[in-house]
Amino acid sequence: MAVIADKCPDITITVVDINKERIDAWNEENLEKLPIFEPGLSEKIKKCRGQNLFFSSEIEKNIQCADMIFISVNTPTKKKGLGAGQASDLKWVEACARQVAEFATGYTIVVEKSTLPVKTAEVIKNILAASQTNLEKTNKSFDVLSNPEFLAEGTAIKDLEDPDRVLIGGENQNAIDILSNIYNNWVPRKKILHTNIWSSELAKLTANAFLAQRISSINSISALCEATGASVSEVSRAIGSDKRIGSKFLDSGPGFGGSCFKKDILNLVYLSNYFGLPEVAEFWEQVTILNNWHQHRISKLIVKKLFGTITEKKICILGFSFKANTNDTRESSAIVICKDLLEEGARLSIHDPKVSEKQISSDLGVEPIAKENYPANKENNYGGWEFHSDILTAAKGSDAVVVLTEWEEYSTIQWDLIAKSMRKPSWVFDSRSIVVKEKVLKAGLNLWRLGDGN
Ligand code: UDX
Repeated sequence: MAVIADKCPDITITVVDINKERIDAWNEENLEKLPIFEPGLSEKIKKCRGQNLFFSSEIEKNIQCADMIFISVNTPTKKKGLGAGQASDLKWVEACARQVAEFATGYTIVVEKSTLPVKTAEVIKNILAASQTNLEKTNKSFDVLSNPEFLAEGTAIKDLEDPDRVLIGGENQNAIDILSNIYNNWVPRKKILHTNIWSSELAKLTANAFLAQRISSINSISALCEATGASVSEVSRAIGSDKRIGSKFLDSGPGFGGSCFKKDILNLVYLSNYFGLPEVAEFWEQVTILNNWHQHRISKLIVKKLFGTITEKKICILGFSFKANTNDTRESSAIVICKDLLEEGARLSIHDPKVSEKQISSDLGVEPIAKENYPANKENNYGGWEFHSDILTAAKGSDAVVVLTEWEEYSTIQWDLIAKSMRKPSWVFDSRSIVVKEKVLKAGLNLWRLGDGN
C-alpha cells in the first residue's frame, strides 16, 4: 500500500487493522520503530504518511467510504478441526468479508490480496451477495477480484516497483480495468496479466510451490555432493546456465523458511487430496518433508563433527531471520536447528543484526540464560542461549560458529580475530556458502560448507 500511495498521489489509501497497537506502531513518529524492517519502506512511509497514506483502527468508517478494499489478512495453517495441519484457516478472511458486506456503501471492488486456497473468492462473493439480498433496498453492489502478491521480503519495494508481472483474476472486465489502471501508473500494460479468478488463486500457490521445490531439489543434491566429493555451487552454476532451468533460486541453504512456502505447499497438498488426487498431494508434500529432513541433517552434522556431543559446549549462531534483510523469523530454519542443538545440551550465543532477543525467546520457547546457570535444566540437560549484538563477543570461547542467515556482514568477518578467542579445535559451519574459505582455513579453523564435498 505504501508503494501504491507513492506511485499514485491521487489515490487515498487507509490501512486498517483491528489491532490498535499495530496501527499505533505504523503511526510512530520514529521511523526506526516501524513494526517491520524492510529496506526502503520507511522512506515511502515518511513521504506518504499523512498525505495520501493513513493508518487507522476505525474499520467501519473506512469501509463505508472505500471504493476498493484489499483483504490482506493472514491465513495461517489450521491447527485443529477439518484439514488441521494443512488447510488454511480462513476465519479472518470470512470476518473481513462479513464486515465489508455490512458496512460498504455503493459499488465496492473487493480484492483478495491474502494468499488463499482456490475457490475462496466464491466464499467472499457468497457473503457479499447475501448482504445484498438481505437488505431490500440496498444500494450495495460488489465485484471480487484476486490479485495475489509475489513480492519477497527483503526486496519487497524493488519487487513492487518493478514486478515480473501483476496478476489480476476476475470476471467483471470493468472491475479488472479499474485495478489494472492503478498498477498501470507505473507497471507497463504487458506485464499486467488477466486470468479467470481460479487460475489467479492457483497461480499464486503454484508459484510458491515451484520456488520451494527448487530449493528442496538443490538441497537434496547438496547432501549428495557432500557424500561424493562434488560441490553444490558448481553443480548449481552448471545447471543454472541452461536457460530452461535458469540460475535463480538454486542456492543451497539451511532449508527454506518464511511465512509462505510451507503454508502454501501444505495448502496445495490439502486441496489435491480434497479433489481426489492423492498422487499429486504426495508429490508436493515431499518438498516439505525434504526441507524438514535437511534442517535436522545440519544439526546432526554439527553434533557429529564436535565429537558426537555438544553438551555444555558453546556454539555461536550467526543469523536467526529466515533470510537476510528482514527481521522476520517465521518458519526460519534457525528455529529448528537451534532447538535441536539445545536439545543436545548446547550453550548457544545467538547474533542477528535485526532480530530482537525477545523474538528469539518467543521462537525458541525459552528465556535466555546466563553462563553460570548452565545447564538450564540439570535433569534433562537441556541447553540454554544468550543474545549478543556483537559478533566477536558472540563467538568468544565457542567451539563452533554456525552461519545460518546470509547477512552481508557475515561475509566480511575477520576470522583470524575470531579464531584467537575460540576454543580449539574450532569449527565454522557455513550453511549459506558466504564465508571466504581461504580466510577461515588460514585462521586455523576447520570449515564445513554446505554441499561442499571437496
Ligand atoms: C516468497 C516468494 O519468493 C514470494 O514470491 C512470495 O510472494 C512470498 O514467498 P519470501 O518468503 O519473502 O518470498 O522469501 P524468498 O526469497 O522466496 O525465500 C524463501 C526461503 O528460501 C528463505 O528461507 C531463503 O533463504 C530460501 N532460499 C531462497 C534458499 O534457500 N535458496 C534460494 O536460492 C532462494
